[in-house]
Amino acid sequence: MKVGIIMGSVRTKRVCPEIAAYVKRTIENDQSLCNQNIELQIIDLNQVALPLYEDDDDLIPAQVKDVDGYVDSRTRLWSRTVSSLDVFIFVTPQYNWGYPAALKNAIDRVYHEWRGKSAIVVSYGGHGGDKCNRQLQEVLQGLKMNVVGGVSMSIPVGVIPLPEGTVPGFSVYNEEILQLVASCIKNTNSRQ
Ligand SMILES: Cc1cc2nc3c(=O)[nH]c(=O)nc-3n(C[C@H](O)[C@H](O)[C@H](O)COP(=O)(O)O)c2cc1C
Repeated sequence: MKVGIIMGSVRTKRVCPEIAAYVKRTIENDQSLCNQNIELQIIDLNQVALPLYEDDDDLIPAQVKDVDGYVDSRTRLWSRTVSSLDVFIFVTPQYNWGYPAALKNAIDRVYHEWRGKSAIVVSYGGHGGDKCNRQLQEVLQGLKMNVVGGVSMSIPVGVIPLPEGTVPGFSVYNEEILQLVASCIKNTNSRQ
């Protein structure tokens, strides 16, 4: 089963890669999940480099039935990436009570590719980013994803930026994340 961990932040200096790596490590180190043949992939939207509606302004992704229907080559690649994954973990900061525009753009570029797939939202911020977590869950439900739940991780302002390679105190979220991932795997297995 292929699990995509999508990083919501595209800032040059960001804590998102460390938090995404923590989520990946937590899943990889879990005894019961490690037998489930899970393949984890961290996705950096900076590398995906999707345009903010340019060439294909007239296209509504919900009306695009086939990958070749997308005019933009980066969107075609993104469509193939999303199609190839079974489960999504969105790791996102909260920006002014919402989630980053780059993440919304990546979600909106395609449509049918998300449908029916299980998703988890892991948000972070000074107060855990629960507002953006709920907003993102609602958007994913609108795409007919199977939203299993969310985890909001508080990062005390003093620890941002995080000291390189460390995520202090985050082990407190391990159990919540693992339970949600286990539910995603179960749901996805029963669908396939
Ligand atoms: C534009 C902007 C808005 C922010 N708004 C919030 C907010 O509403 N709530 C919060 O807890 N933290 C907020 N923060 C602080 C972020 O949680 C913190 O900067 C975090 O490191 C951002 O993640 P990133 O470094 O991976 O981009 C904001 C940061 C930025 C850059």
